[in-house]
Amino acid sequence: MSPSRGKFITVEGGEGAGKSSNLAFMRDLLEQSGRQVVFTREPGGTALGEDIRELLLGHKHTGMAGDTELLLIFAARAEHLARIILPALNDGKWVLCDRFTDASYAYQGGGRGIDMGRIQALESWVQQGLRPDLTLLLDLPVETGLERAGQRSEPDRFESEQQAFFERVRQVYIDIAEREPERVSMVDASRPLPEVQQQIRGVMERFLDRVQNHE
Ligand code: TMP
Repeated sequence: MSPSRGKFITVEGGEGAGKSSNLAFMRDLLEQSGRQVVFTREPGGTALGEDIRELLLGHKHTGMAGDTELLLIFAARAEHLARIILPALNDGKWVLCDRFTDASYAYQGGGRGIDMGRIQALESWVQQGLRPDLTLLLDLPVETGLERAGQRSEPDRFESEQQAFFERVRQVYIDIAEREPERVSMVDASRPLPEVQQQIRGVMERFLDRVQNHE
């Protein structure tokens, strides 16, 4: 008998939202629940995707056109889906992904002002109906996030944007969470880490219960 399809979980958030440590925490929770987890990220996740990531985040092509940026992101996504995400899900594994298409709506749609209809068209072409089963949105005020992120290394091409860009990014994320409460759980990432993890644990436990009841 073929295994039941795995679940696809994504994590989103603005700069300095604490994605890395919270992703590691989520991975542990999933593994403790007995799931086999494939941990990956966007843009990236494959050799080709990581090359595209370098083009997108590096400073070699600072003035890249918005459409070029969007198409590169979806090219990396097509590769990621074909080589990593779909095979893993079909094999019964769970996929935990650091960012996915909500980031394209937030950064390219909100941040860059690209028409959302274009992003939708690419989403349906590349994903053919595949969407995350659960998305965790780590939300915090832009200023707090930038302060936290500022303490880290050299800013990449996105991190070099101005505060107004990140305000638009945040607003699109919040709009998505409000429109799709079934899929997207918003967590207040401005709280101290143990509290954030408490919120995340609650979301994950509810999701795992729901899945178990359907298996
Ligand atoms: P991060 O993984 O360190 O957050 O860096 C990835 C950057 O790429 C982040 O600034 C957001 C950006 N990005 C987009 O602009 N659109 C997308 O669809 C994705 C997945 C990421």
